[in-house]
Amino acid sequence: MRLNKFLSGCGLASRRKCEDIIKAGRVTINGKVVENLATDVDEKKDKVAVDGNLIALPNQFVYLKMNKPKGYACTASDERGRKTIFDLVQSDVRLFNVGRLDYETEGLIFLTNDGEFANLVTHPKYHFEKEYVATIEGDIKESELAVLRKGVVVDGVRMPTAKVKYMGYDGTFAKVSVVIDEGQNHQVRRMFDAIGKTIKLLKRVRIGGVHLGGLYRGKTKPMTQDEIDFFKGAK
Ligand code: URA
Repeated sequence: MRLNKFLSGCGLASRRKCEDIIKAGRVTINGKVVENLATDVDEKKDKVAVDGNLIALPNQFVYLKMNKPKGYACTASDERGRKTIFDLVQSDVRLFNVGRLDYETEGLIFLTNDGEFANLVTHPKYHFEKEYVATIEGDIKESELAVLRKGVVVDGVRMPTAKVKYMGYDGTFAKVSVVIDEGQNHQVRRMFDAIGKTIKLLKRVRIGGVHLGGLYRGKTKPMTQDEIDFFKGAK
């Protein structure tokens, strides 16, 4: 494994920052300073130290799925003092969220201590689908859905195309399923804004092959090996 990947996997810093730490001569492998970024580590045999302190990969990675409720921020500490998703989970290891949902959005989000897994799930190169159910005020016409599919223009820029399916209207609210495989900020809300529709509730129900299922709001549960492998297998 490349040294910078190993160091970031140990939770030292991002891969980019780990490269700076290597170049600064702060890393030793089996007692010898290594400054070459192309160095490989045998994670089973080599003794790697940073500033003289031995470090190792966590012996256990944790992968959780959460049903984030609305009204929680996806951050370790919110500068506005709002509740965060980390108020909802007990863990012995430090976890971080994989991607984000807006404060007002609810639904599926992953938490892990595996930086490589987080990179993989969020990397645009893999185009993992994200499926949302948008509950909107009033009904919506087929012609409006067609505009969402083609990619609405927001501030002069065309949004990526989306798979959009009408799910029904109960006389007050319509439900629309939206599948995107890019993650621009507030993408789904901006799509509906652009056609003058107000979202009452936005919920993420699927990421790649992993469904929210019947997980209660505010609850977490471990991902299954199949769910983890869905992403790892895409590499
Ligand atoms: N798109 C949005 O607009 N908000 C989210 O939270 C996720 C996707």
